[in-house]
Amino acid sequence: MTEGFVPLKIAGVGYCVPETVITNEDLKKLYDTSDEWIYTRTGIKERRVVSGNETAIDLGYKAAKDAIEKSGISADEIDCIIGASSAPPQIYPTLACHMQERFGIKKKIPAFDMTAACTGLIYALQIARGFIGAGIYKTILIVASDNNSKITDWEDRGTSILFGDGAGAMVVTASDDGIDDILAIDISADGSIGQLIQTNLPGQCCPLVEQADEEGNGKIIMNGKEVYKFAVSTVPSYVEHCISLSGMTSEEIDYLIPHQANQRIIESIQNRLKYSDDKVISNIKYYGNTSAASIPIALVEGVQQGKIKLNTTAVLCGFGAGMTWGAAVVRLREGIC
Ligand code: UT7
Repeated sequence: MTEGFVPLKIAGVGYCVPETVITNEDLKKLYDTSDEWIYTRTGIKERRVVSGNETAIDLGYKAAKDAIEKSGISADEIDCIIGASSAPPQIYPTLACHMQERFGIKKKIPAFDMTAACTGLIYALQIARGFIGAGIYKTILIVASDNNSKITDWEDRGTSILFGDGAGAMVVTASDDGIDDILAIDISADGSIGQLIQTNLPGQCCPLVEQADEEGNGKIIMNGKEVYKFAVSTVPSYVEHCISLSGMTSEEIDYLIPHQANQRIIESIQNRLKYSDDKVISNIKYYGNTSAASIPIALVEGVQQGKIKLNTTAVLCGFGAGMTWGAAVVRLREGIC
């Protein structure tokens, strides 16, 4: 650690998923598919979607409330909010500003969203680490919430089988005992292959000038096969690289908590690290791909289900549109979930 750098404590982690479940059987009402095809190719059996007036803001608020309660820190002590969302209901006000309003935080603190798609949580953690490390802010709320069902093309059987809605949140703060919970973190991107996953917003032209009239419908367009190849060729070795930055060996790390995009991608990382099943946290079967929220959902649920013991370490990794990817080796303290 650089001298003078303030160590970071992960103080609380929370999550929220909507009640409504869409099974693979339900998807058969939309197009020609089968539970067998979807489960074999992806490991997914069902996903959750918002219903009624519920939005990613509501999910994010519940996840953040959960994380704040677990952290033992009051909402008024938060001095920065970072939203990580690639499918918010509004571009602005941002998810982060909505959180400030929902928690009734009267202090004039910064609140902003950043988009790194499914890598959003790791990007936000790296940004928070920079702020806390430099002594700029002490306590930061990270909220990752994605309303994927609103941007999914429900006529495209190659993408709509994958995504679900959900939210995760983390409260991170300046460590009071000198111990840094981030043992290593790294984020990366390659815009030259950005076309592999796109969402083009609908819009209109200014009537006073000629403008390119690019049609967008706000829905996810994905080259699944190429994304899959990218993930299995890039992510496993990258996770190993990030582990080496921590000075630990993969055997010394207790858990792998990966972004939940496809069970076969998770297994490619697992095989690279030579981890047994009990070290790898996967809940994709029940939630599909919830973008930036998938890591905190897997972490908290893993603890609740007894799959993850605390006072341990984990390697987190994310990847997705951009293309972006990132990984972090973290300490999981007692009481955070
Ligand atoms: O955060 C990152 C987000 N994205 C990802 O991680 C996506 C990564 N990619 C994938 O997970 C996989 O590419 C998919 C699960 C999306 C697709 O699996 P695939 O093995 O790459 O299938 P494919 O797209 O090559 O399609 C194979 C066949 C095609 O039929 P033909 O051309 O061989 O006759 C498709 O039309 O399967 C057909 N197909 C389906 N069949 C039944 C595509 N979707 C379906 C479906 N049900 N839902």
